[in-house]
Amino acid sequence: MCGIVGYIGKKKAVPILMDGLRKESYRGYDSSGIVVFEQGKPICLKAVGKLENLENRIQTNKYGSGFGIGHVRWATHGGVTEANAHPHCDCKENIFLVHNGIIENYRQLREKLVREGHKFSSDTDTEVIAHLIEKYFQGKLEEAVRKALRQVKGAYALAVIARDDPEKIIAARFSSPLIIGVGQNEYLVASDPNAIAPYAQKVIALEDNEIAIITPKDISILKEREPQDLEIEAEESEKGGYPHFMLKEIMEQPESIGSPLKGRLIIAQGLAKLGGLETVKEKLKNVKRLNIIACGTARHAGLVGEYMLEEYAGIPTEVEAGSEFRYRKQILDKNTAILAVSQSGETADTLGAIKEAKQKGMMCIGIVNAVGSTISRETDAGVYNHAGPEIGVASTKAFTSQLTVLALLTLLLGRQRGMSLVMGQRIAKEISRIPELVKKTLESEAQIKELAEKYKDFNNFAYIGRKYNLPIALEGALKLKEISYLHAEGMPAGEMKHGQIALIDENFPTVAICPSDSVYEKMVSNVEEIKARKGPVIAIATQGNEDIKKLVDDVIYIPKTLEMLTPILSVIPLQLFAYYVGLLRGCDIDKPRNLAKSVTVE
Ligand code: AGP
Repeated sequence: MCGIVGYIGKKKAVPILMDGLRKESYRGYDSSGIVVFEQGKPICLKAVGKLENLENRIQTNKYGSGFGIGHVRWATHGGVTEANAHPHCDCKENIFLVHNGIIENYRQLREKLVREGHKFSSDTDTEVIAHLIEKYFQGKLEEAVRKALRQVKGAYALAVIARDDPEKIIAARFSSPLIIGVGQNEYLVASDPNAIAPYAQKVIALEDNEIAIITPKDISILKEREPQDLEIEAEESEKGGYPHFMLKEIMEQPESIGSPLKGRLIIAQGLAKLGGLETVKEKLKNVKRLNIIACGTARHAGLVGEYMLEEYAGIPTEVEAGSEFRYRKQILDKNTAILAVSQSGETADTLGAIKEAKQKGMMCIGIVNAVGSTISRETDAGVYNHAGPEIGVASTKAFTSQLTVLALLTLLLGRQRGMSLVMGQRIAKEISRIPELVKKTLESEAQIKELAEKYKDFNNFAYIGRKYNLPIALEGALKLKEISYLHAEGMPAGEMKHGQIALIDENFPTVAICPSDSVYEKMVSNVEEIKARKGPVIAIATQGNEDIKKLVDDVIYIPKTLEMLTPILSVIPLQLFAYYVGLLRGCDIDKPRNLAKSVTVE
């Protein structure tokens, strides 16, 4: 977890910056750096590894400057190198800044800035902000920062200084904590109160969209309410050459899963590192029960999470639709935590349930894709998916991202409890393989398109699964309903014989999710019951399983992985099947009738 420190006042900045970085180093870091201006010349020193390596480069007494900034970095975008350590600067070594958070649209911004002639010296998302500020700098740093941040999407806590607008620190935050310490004619900026305690009597906690202008004499705070720059939004929400956002978002799942994994897995120690849960990490050790609250597709993700958390973290877990949680008698206690899962972070049913739970004093954590959304701010802590904006109404990449984050959370909680190092390493390693396995799964797109052609005229479908893949049966059915308006029903495979099988005949196909897992044999029995009634069956099976071909009408293969991670793969053929059936039936893929992307009403 990164740490920011800034100082402006009468004392020498360097010793205060180093003291602050030492106090923030407990958060975990792999490089550090500071910058001050001496006679108008930037002195920017960085080092990888321990803070001592940076200290060895600094002759503290040599630098008399009264203002500067520093940072301890925990690598997310870009490896652990001196070039990637903060502070970062612009082309002219005028603008210097340190940053906590993740800039989601940094690739598009960087490409644009490179086209405009900017030269980059690191692989980080942070450096993009320095060049953006340079682009708008005309003497007043705060103005340039304001213009630059309107183009940025993601979470940030920033401290910025400029050679050509000296004796000033600009601090800004959006969804990543940043505080300002107020001393006697001196001010400090930090991401952690520990860093400023010795120097400040009062603190100001910046709020989202606030920009502070700090000089040795005073501080003023601007509330940035300007609308975001549509130009970047437009670029961002282009279909990237795909006919529909839904197909683009299905096909970009290797990246939407892979990119946020960077910095979140420590395979050698079998650990998951979720920065947004750092502040509640100790409290999570005492959680005895989890209530997952979500709606629609997010609820299906929660149902997979229930199996993960119970099997690998040993935590009794219940999943509830937000619309139900609020109105039923809750048997809750102080050891129960709420986990809200939401792509948009604005779903009224989920939000209402969170407010209800908070009134009862429950700790609420979130798994949210939309940075800065209401649910992300209402929960006590949480994890951003960072899957990028999901435009298609039918949720696809957000869903597989939710499953991935739930697997990371299971690893984190499991290793706080009885999970062994070996098991942790095994799960962490397999999670790191998921993006490539997703890519392999997507290779069956052409075959699935043919299956859609073959099955598009049926009017009813059953989707069946067991254990980890029961929620995928529910999700596959929902995808088909949403996109093609056909009737589809997801159900536990074992429930078929308790009534549903009355529906089965040659006009009622079934999608059976039967990977080679702990319940495969049971699934085969259920498929045989359906075939005995002449029901057509499409099986989702594990690569290499030739036997299943003798039993069913069509097979779509997925790669082998851990049972708990299989849902991330088994859902993909169902997403594509729904897409192509809907397309062949002439439906409005990205804006299906009656549906909204974010259901902000009860
Ligand atoms: C999913 O395809 C649907 N669009 C819908 O069920 C959605 O998952 C549900 O409304 C919850 O939305 P959220 O994840 O933004 O809270």
